[in-house]
Amino acid sequence: MVNQSKTIDSVQAGAIALSAQGKTTEASARSLKREQDLPAVFKHMVARGPVVPVMVIKDMDQAIPLAEALLEAGLTVLEITLRTACALDAISSLRKRFPELFIGAGTLRQISQVSAVVDAGAQFAVSPGYDPELGETCRKHGLDLLPGIASASELMQANRDGFYFVKLFPAEAIGGIRLIQSFASPFAETMFCPTGGIDVSKARDYLALSNVACVGGSWMIPATALAAGDWLLIRDLASQAQALERAFTAQR
Ligand code: 3PG
Repeated sequence: MVNQSKTIDSVQAGAIALSAQGKTTEASARSLKREQDLPAVFKHMVARGPVVPVMVIKDMDQAIPLAEALLEAGLTVLEITLRTACALDAISSLRKRFPELFIGAGTLRQISQVSAVVDAGAQFAVSPGYDPELGETCRKHGLDLLPGIASASELMQANRDGFYFVKLFPAEAIGGIRLIQSFASPFAETMFCPTGGIDVSKARDYLALSNVACVGGSWMIPATALAAGDWLLIRDLASQAQALERAFTAQR
């Protein structure tokens, strides 16, 4: 079993700072004011890599070979969406089989899903939008939430409730790079995980922004490759994703 506390401690031990491709910028000089509020999911994502694959598992037979392909590529933070009948079973089964992975439940929308997700063993959750009650329920259950936001108003509300690491969703449909750049100054303490409509080339552009901690997406799991069981292609696309550079770094 991976020593999560060790991983978290190693990140906590060092100051998390923003840097942009080795150059000192106004943003890189700025320390995160709310580092103490950042959840373990953020620390894992910073420690482990720049891309979070979003997995829609319709068939349990796909779960293990798909996770193996992603793991072989070095992607170790996975989001399994709660959009299919076997999603909870997939979370539970992958948690047992691959303790080195850090597995979250995506598309969390209802309060009633929280305890089921915790029972399945999910280590974090991702919601497409921001719901203060859902956030509070996750806190009560000790479940780290990466909440989705799509506007300045939603982000203000999320910040007010202590969420400084958010998913920008659906990123490409709502302004993507330009929106995150526009948020950088008024929301200086917020880190983003843009998700929705992103491919490898767009991911590269997002990851050049100093307030983007990671990028989420399903581009490395094409539906045709999944249906055909083309794990080699998925592994290659995942390796390409894992190799992406990011401006945001945790300096230890
Ligand atoms: C989702 O929750 O569906 C994610 O945003 C994935 O989006 P994508 O399939 O467009 O990458």
